Amino acid sequence: MSHSEFKGGDAASGQAAGLRRLRAPKPVQVIAVTSGKGGVGKTSVSVNLAVSMAQAGKRVMLLDGDLGLANVDVMLGLQPTYNLSHVIAGQCTLDDTIIEGPSGVMVVPASSGKRNMAELSGAEHIGLVRAFSELQRPLDTLIVDTAAGIADSVITFSQASQQVVVVVTSDPQSLTDAYALIKVLNRDHGIYRVHVLANQVHAPREANEIFENLRRVAERFLDVTLSSIGFVPHDDWLKRAVRRQRAVVDAYPAAPSAIAFRELAATAMNWGAPLGARGNLEFFVERLIGTGALPAGVSA
Ligand SMILES: Nc1ncnc2c1ncn2[C@@H]1O[C@H](COP(=O)(O)OP(=O)(O)OP(=O)(O)O)[C@@H](O)[C@H]1O
Ligand SMILES: [Mg+2]
Repeated sequence: MSHSEFKGGDAASGQAAGLRRLRAPKPVQVIAVTSGKGGVGKTSVSVNLAVSMAQAGKRVMLLDGDLGLANVDVMLGLQPTYNLSHVIAGQCTLDDTIIEGPSGVMVVPASSGKRNMAELSGAEHIGLVRAFSELQRPLDTLIVDTAAGIADSVITFSQASQQVVVVVTSDPQSLTDAYALIKVLNRDHGIYRVHVLANQVHAPREANEIFENLRRVAERFLDVTLSSIGFVPHDDWLKRAVRRQRAVVDAYPAAPSAIAFRELAATAMNWGAPLGARGNLEFFVERLIGTGALPAGVSA
């Protein structure tokens, strides 16, 4: 096909659009894992969901979005050279920070305890989301482990993801704080659908009670739909895996929590890829609207 075929006329612009579609990278499924209260298990869920999906053959990236206290790399025993603070400081690219975790998961580490990272401006959070658009790596899923609560970074990263998973436990404070977070995401930031995952659960009935309590209040007072995506049992094997700096699905694949994480991964893989851009800030938005570059020398 010669270059001149692309010049002028409806047919030519149609061909160019078709070519763009052909060359557009596949949309990336983006899942934010968040919570109202800290310490409920976001990082455990993010890490094990990522590794389970990778074990199932997906190409997975895991972003440590907890900019204050980095812990994805600690939980996986990784020693990153670069992290997001170097990207913000212009000392390296986002791609330079990526290190390989278990089953080939691509980990984007945050900084460890650097005060300035916890105090990034809104513009810098947005800059980070946009920086993902520069990545050339083939990818099926991005999992974002956020900080807890209603911090700016949590809001920006959740809004920029297609799926938001809120992790809760039976601790009443965890439920109250989850409601407060969902309220802000819904009322002020246009998020109408939230997945709820009960963690550290001692019996299936407890998981159901946690979900129903949250759903009753949220659906009564907010314009949001909550869906339960199951639960992860309280599991000492998970604690043991954390101490060994391994993912439980990797270190103890037969443990009750590992079985739950694989089921969760299967559920999430069924959500599929997003159908299109929503018109606000989004991770990998170019891969959603299909503006893949034309071959060199060709202009649309
Ligand atoms: N299903 C579980 N069973 C047993 N212990 C668990 C489970 N989930 C999490 N934990 C324990 O809780 C600790 C905190 O979990 P994790 O670091 O994943 O929480 P977090 O929400 O990411 O915390 P932070 O808000 O500080 O980032 C883990 O180190 C682990 O010991
Ligand atoms: Mg964490």
